[in-house]
Amino acid sequence: MQRTLIKNIDRLLGVAEEPPPLLRGKALATLPELTQAWLLIEDDRIAAFGEMGGELPRADVVIEAFGGSVLPAFVDSHTHLVFAAWREGEFVLRLQGKSYEEIARAGGGILHSAARLRQMPEEALYEQALQRLEEVQNQGTGALEIKSGYGLDTDSELKMLRVIRRLKEHSAAPVKATFLGAHALPLAYKNDRAAYIRLLIEQMLPRVAAEGLADYVDVFCEKVAFSVDEMEQILEASAKYGLKPKVHVNQFHALGGVEAAVRHGAVSVDHLEVVSERDLQILAKADTLAVILPSAPFFLNDHYPPARQMVDRGLALALATDYNPGSSPSGRMAFSISLACIKCGLLPAEALQAATVNGAHALELGELCGSITPGMRADLILTKPIPSPAFIPYAFGSNWVERVFLGGK
Ligand code: NIG
Ligand code: FE
Repeated sequence: MQRTLIKNIDRLLGVAEEPPPLLRGKALATLPELTQAWLLIEDDRIAAFGEMGGELPRADVVIEAFGGSVLPAFVDSHTHLVFAAWREGEFVLRLQGKSYEEIARAGGGILHSAARLRQMPEEALYEQALQRLEEVQNQGTGALEIKSGYGLDTDSELKMLRVIRRLKEHSAAPVKATFLGAHALPLAYKNDRAAYIRLLIEQMLPRVAAEGLADYVDVFCEKVAFSVDEMEQILEASAKYGLKPKVHVNQFHALGGVEAAVRHGAVSVDHLEVVSERDLQILAKADTLAVILPSAPFFLNDHYPPARQMVDRGLALALATDYNPGSSPSGRMAFSISLACIKCGLLPAEALQAATVNGAHALELGELCGSITPGMRADLILTKPIPSPAFIPYAFGSNWVERVFLGGK
C-alpha cells in the first residue's frame, strides 16, 4: 500500500466524515473546512485528515502544500468532449447576427459536427478527445460524463460510444457515458421524424445496450431538436434497458420537458436557462437534479438560468461545463463556477459545492467522489496559496491550480 501525506495545507475544503447527501437550500452555502491541516491518502483513496500541530501519520511520500489549499476535484456531469472539429466559423456567423437556432435549422450546428465525425476514424477521434480530457483534468476536473450525439446514425453513434469507453478505461478518474442519439434530427429524416425515432429505438438502443456502452440516455428536448412526446418515447424504450435519463431541456424554450423527464425518473435535467414557475415547483419536490451550464449562455450571449432562485426554492442544483464545439468550447469548470457566481447569483461556497458534491450526485457517484471523506477517491486539487475559497470564482483568469491528484496520483 502506498501512503501519501499532504501537509501544511492552509484550508482543507469540502471535508466530511461521511459522504455528504445531495445538498439543497442553505446546506449548499456551508463549505466545510479544516484549517492548517494534513491529508493522508492510501493508494487511490482518502484515508484520514487532521490538524497540523500534533504528530503526523507515517507515509511513504510526503508532499508539502506550502500553504496552498486542497479541495475535491470538480465533477463535470455534462460534457460532449468527443467531437471531430471545432466550429469557430459558426461563432463568427453569430457575431455577424445569426442565432444558434437559425444556424441549426440551416443544417449547421450539431448536424455539421455529425458530418465531420462520421468521416473521422475512431482512432483519430480518440486521440483528440483524450487530449481534451487530459486538458480538463489538468484544470481540476476529476470525474466527468461524456455524451454521444454527433454520430446520428447507428455506426457513428456506436463509434462515438466506443471512443468514450476507451476514455473510461484510460482515464485516471471515473467517466460516465451517455447515449444521445436524439441530439438533432438528421436532414434525411426531415419529412419522416418518426422513422428516425424508430431507428433509434429499434436499432441503436439495442446495440448500445448489448455492448454495454452507455450508463444513461439523453434527448435534446427543444424546438430545434425533439418534442416532449418524442423524448418520452425514447425514455420509455431506454428504461427497458435500464438506462436512466439525463436530458437537455429548457435551453431556449420551456416546453414541458422538465415535468416529463421527472416523471420518467431522470437523474438530472440540464440547461434550464428558461424555466416556468411549474418547472420550479416540480423540481423543488423531485429527486431529479437541476444541472446548470452557464458557459453555454455565456458563449451564446443568451440569458442565464435563474440559479439563485433555484437554490432558494430548494432545487438540487449542480454545475457543469457542457464542453462542446457549438455552445461551450470550454471544459474549464473554474470558469463555470465564476459564471455561476457573477451571472447567476450564487455564492462561492454554493457554486463550489454544486461543482463537487452535487456534481457527483448528478452522476450517481455521491459515495465515491466530490468530497474529502475517508474512503472516497483521492481526486483532489492542491492550489497555489489562495486567500480564501472565494478567490476561486473571483480570480477567473488566473491559474490557481498547483497540482491535481486523480486516484491519489
Ligand atoms: O448542450 N443543446 C444541445 N447540445 C449542446 C450543443 C451541442 C452543439 O451545438 O454541438 C448543448 O448546448
Ligand atoms: Fe449539452
